[in-house]
Amino acid sequence: MADGTAGATRRRLAQELAVVAGFEDPHAPLEQYHTPPDLAAHIVHVADLQGDVEGRTVFDLGCGTGMLALGAALRGPERAIGIDIDPAPLSTARENERRVGAMTDVSWVRGDVSVVPVIPTEDATVLMNPPFGAQSGNEGADRAFLQTAAAIAGVSYSVHNAGSESFVRAFADDNGGRVTHAFAAAFELPRQFEHHDADSRSIDTEVYRIEWT
Ligand SMILES: C[S@@+](CC[C@H](N)C(=O)[O-])C[C@H]1O[C@@H](n2cnc3c(N)ncnc32)[C@H](O)[C@@H]1O
Repeated sequence: MADGTAGATRRRLAQELAVVAGFEDPHAPLEQYHTPPDLAAHIVHVADLQGDVEGRTVFDLGCGTGMLALGAALRGPERAIGIDIDPAPLSTARENERRVGAMTDVSWVRGDVSVVPVIPTEDATVLMNPPFGAQSGNEGADRAFLQTAAAIAGVSYSVHNAGSESFVRAFADDNGGRVTHAFAAAFELPRQFEHHDADSRSIDTEVYRIEWT
C-alpha cells in the first residue's frame, strides 16, 4: 500500500475511534487513562499491515474503555475480546461498541489479566496498553501483562513508558519472544487524577511488537 493511502486509512481509523468515550470515574491505582485514538489507530494499523488482525483472535488486555479492541474490530478479526479487572469501564466499553458500530462483535470479559483467564492459541494477537507500574504498589504491572501475552498469543503489541526498551527486550529473550518492531509515541494525558498538577501532560511511550514461540 502506498504511504499516502496507508496514512489516509490510519487517519480514518483514528476518526472512527474518536467517538470512544473515556473513563467515567478513573481509578488511579489501576492507571485508568484511555489510549488516545491516534495511538490506538497507529497500533491497529501496523498490526493490520502485518497480518495480525484480519481473521485472527484479538485480545485487548486491560481494555478499559475498549479503545484497542474496538480499533481491531473495525479491521475484520475472527473475534475480539476485551478483558479488564474493573467492571465499570467494561460497561463504558459496551456503550462505546454501540457508538463505533464495528461489524465484528466484541466480548467484554471481567478478569485479572495476571492469572491468564484464556486458553492459548497461535492465531491470537494481543493489543495492550497495560498499567506502566508507575503508581506505588503497582510496580511490574506491565511485566504481568507481558507474561500473559507470551502465554496466550503468537504476537503482541504493547505500550510501555519511555525507557522500557532494555526491559522489554530482555523479557522477550527470556520468554521465547522476539521484538520485531518498535516505535516511540508521545501522547497527551488529560488531568484526571489528584496527583496531576497541570491540565494535561505529555507522556513519552514506546510500542513493541513481539513474536512469541
Ligand atoms: C492504561 S489503562 C488501558 C486503557 C485502555 N487501552 C483504554 O484505552 O481505555 C490500563 C487498564 O488496565 C486495567 N487493569 C489494571 N490491572 C489489571 C489486571 N490485573 N487485570 C485486568 N485489567 C487490569 C485497568 O483497569 C485499566 O483499564
